[in-house]
Amino acid sequence: MKNNVLKLIYVATLGGFLFGYDTAVINGAVGPLSDYFSLSPEVTGFATASALIGCVIGSAISGILSSRLGRKLSLIIAAILFLISAIGCALPESIEMLIVFRIIGGIGVGLASMVSPMYIAEISLPRNRGKYVSYYQLAVVIGIQIVFFVNYAIAQVGSREWIDLVGWRWMFASEALPAIAFLIFLFFVSDSPRWFAMKNMYDKARSVLEKIRGTRDVDEEINEIKHSLTIGSGSDKAILSEKKVPFLILIGILLSFFQQVTGINVIMYYGTEIFRSMGEGINQALFQSALVGAVNLIFTIVAIRTIDKFGRKPLLIIGSIGMFLSISTLGTLIYFNQFGIPALISVLVFIASFAMSMGPVVWVLISEIFPNRIRNFAMPIAVAAQWVSNFLVTQTFPVLEHYVHSAFPFWLYGFMCLVAIAFTVKYIPETKGRSLEEMEKVFGIGRE
Ligand code: BGC
Repeated sequence: MKNNVLKLIYVATLGGFLFGYDTAVINGAVGPLSDYFSLSPEVTGFATASALIGCVIGSAISGILSSRLGRKLSLIIAAILFLISAIGCALPESIEMLIVFRIIGGIGVGLASMVSPMYIAEISLPRNRGKYVSYYQLAVVIGIQIVFFVNYAIAQVGSREWIDLVGWRWMFASEALPAIAFLIFLFFVSDSPRWFAMKNMYDKARSVLEKIRGTRDVDEEINEIKHSLTIGSGSDKAILSEKKVPFLILIGILLSFFQQVTGINVIMYYGTEIFRSMGEGINQALFQSALVGAVNLIFTIVAIRTIDKFGRKPLLIIGSIGMFLSISTLGTLIYFNQFGIPALISVLVFIASFAMSMGPVVWVLISEIFPNRIRNFAMPIAVAAQWVSNFLVTQTFPVLEHYVHSAFPFWLYGFMCLVAIAFTVKYIPETKGRSLEEMEKVFGIGRE
């Protein structure tokens, strides 16, 4: 039944919610904790970026975990890591301990960022798979937004001294709540039928499919899954030597790369500085977050409503064109020292364009383009590439801005949008409505 599958999807999207929450919680906490521990700018920067190192590790091990232990158990591990990180970051005895717990949380993010969309793609029907994986992106965006308001609310509770001493601990601790909810809900979902099939547990695969499809008529889907798992020789090495598989993995890596090197997280992490130039009398941080958050949310919904109708490719192309125009305009405005409303509009158009394209579509594509036999092996590579690219972009932005020119990074991201458009037009086939088992045909891999 639709409702049965939706319940599982909602639980899995909580992984996305925690991804957003964990990566953004630091924004409110970093100032006070840097005062509390009297940190240098370098250590403050590292405390912020350390979670990304965890994300790379988490996504790199996500393939082994999700194939050996299953999708469900991997998500349970991610939830436990979120919980440990929330408590540990709230009560660290030293900055080193805080960094260790940030990395632990990052491992949870990396793990969930691979397993949640993979699980959603594996239990969805082809006709609404794009929509359901995009729910995951929506949850990421909501997580980013909610933690901002939580941090803001905590900051209103006490004096500046209280925030520096205690307030930031509550910001981290607040993550325990969604982590516990995620952990509890996970006990009520079953693993994906495709994972059961991989483990040769066809009876279990069938009973889960019957339950989530609300019908006993699942023979065709079971047979397709069986067929897709038995063709080819099976071992990773043999699969890799198969024509086109390395090429497909490269496509996954490049999709992730382009999602990051077109600059989204520079706006997400450093946007406040751009908004700081906007007039006075407004609570800048709240104003920025409310606007960016609302636009991000609304345009992710646009993607959800159109991705299975218009397809992935048109959204990617239209969105990337919008991203190119807006980020290059922003660079040009910065070059001429023109801030204010035009800069604000450029930022918002950029967020809107990303939210209706690269944001959700990249997650959808990397969770669906890999055939069953190689998904466990290939998807973690694509996701890890995303975290590595994220790290590179956010670490190099201040350097490029300082040593080259403050407009340069934005022009560079604009140029990357152009490359991304050319890449999409040439190499991305349309996957809407195709079953996961059909992907081998879509990409011309293996034999029939
Ligand atoms: C990206 C994140 C980004 C977020 C913004 C996600 O799809 O993976 O890096 O911060 O979108 O909404």
